[in-house]
Amino acid sequence: MAGLLSGALRWCKSLAIAAALYVAFALLVNMSRPFAVPSAGSKFGILVTGCASGLGYDLVRAIVDDVPENKNIVVFAGVRKAEDLKLFDSFKNKDRIVPLVLDVANPSHVEEAVRKVGASGVPLYGLINNAGIGMASKRISKHPGSEYSKAVSDVLDVNILGLAHLTGASMDLLKSAAKSLGSARVVNIGSVMGLVFTPTCGGKWLPAVVIYYYCN
Ligand SMILES: NC(=O)c1ccc[n+]([C@@H]2O[C@H](COP(=O)([O-])OP(=O)(O)OC[C@H]3O[C@@H](n4cnc5c(N)ncnc54)[C@H](OP(=O)(O)O)[C@@H]3O)[C@@H](O)[C@H]2O)c1
Repeated sequence: MAGLLSGALRWCKSLAIAAALYVAFALLVNMSRPFAVPSAGSKFGILVTGCASGLGYDLVRAIVDDVPENKNIVVFAGVRKAEDLKLFDSFKNKDRIVPLVLDVANPSHVEEAVRKVGASGVPLYGLINNAGIGMASKRISKHPGSEYSKAVSDVLDVNILGLAHLTGASMDLLKSAAKSLGSARVVNIGSVMGLVFTPTCGGKWLPAVVIYYYCN
């Protein structure tokens, strides 16, 4: 019995070392990817989703108001609800923000937003897929049946399918900007849950894991 136990422990230790090596390798590969920014003087656009609050809202402010060197950047700020279009009216450099109604889970919003970005004539250098919903408090033991599956389905619709749809729909604009500016980027905001699972992360782990592998 003791032999079995120590064998299992040795096996777990090797697995943990292999997992740690894999994570370190993945981080190293990601960090070594070249990062080019458009040269000074060229005007370019960044489309950010989920800008009504949290990271998205702060990101819009950080890009247009906080960094003077960003004066060539136009931010296409996606918000889910039309009433949030006015949220950026108080920003110092609001003339460099183009607010768009963009529910990423609504295919017609996605198509229309991409059409408007294209029609603006500003090359789309970046897409930041930030919109997301969490379900940390929804644990299957506490929310059985349809309530849980509805919550999972909403998270998948927004965090994965919305992200994938918008990325696909923006690809032509990004490719064409990459030709004129030298590069273009897609940034997907996932979660550390894509790498580390905790019992309290509810159904959030699934999109986080998918986003992690989607990026790679
Ligand atoms: N904060 C954290 O600790 C944390 C941890 C891990 C990952 N993240 C990820 O980071 C991103 C930003 O999170 P946050 O903390 O800033 O959360 P937040 O304050 O809740 O912001 C999320 C934003 O996404 C928007 N959104 C939700 N569903 C949408 C949809 N269908 N279409 C377009 N926009 C939609 C929300 O708009 P409405 O208000 O109109 O719904 C909101 O503005 C999310 O993807 C989240 O999963 C955050």
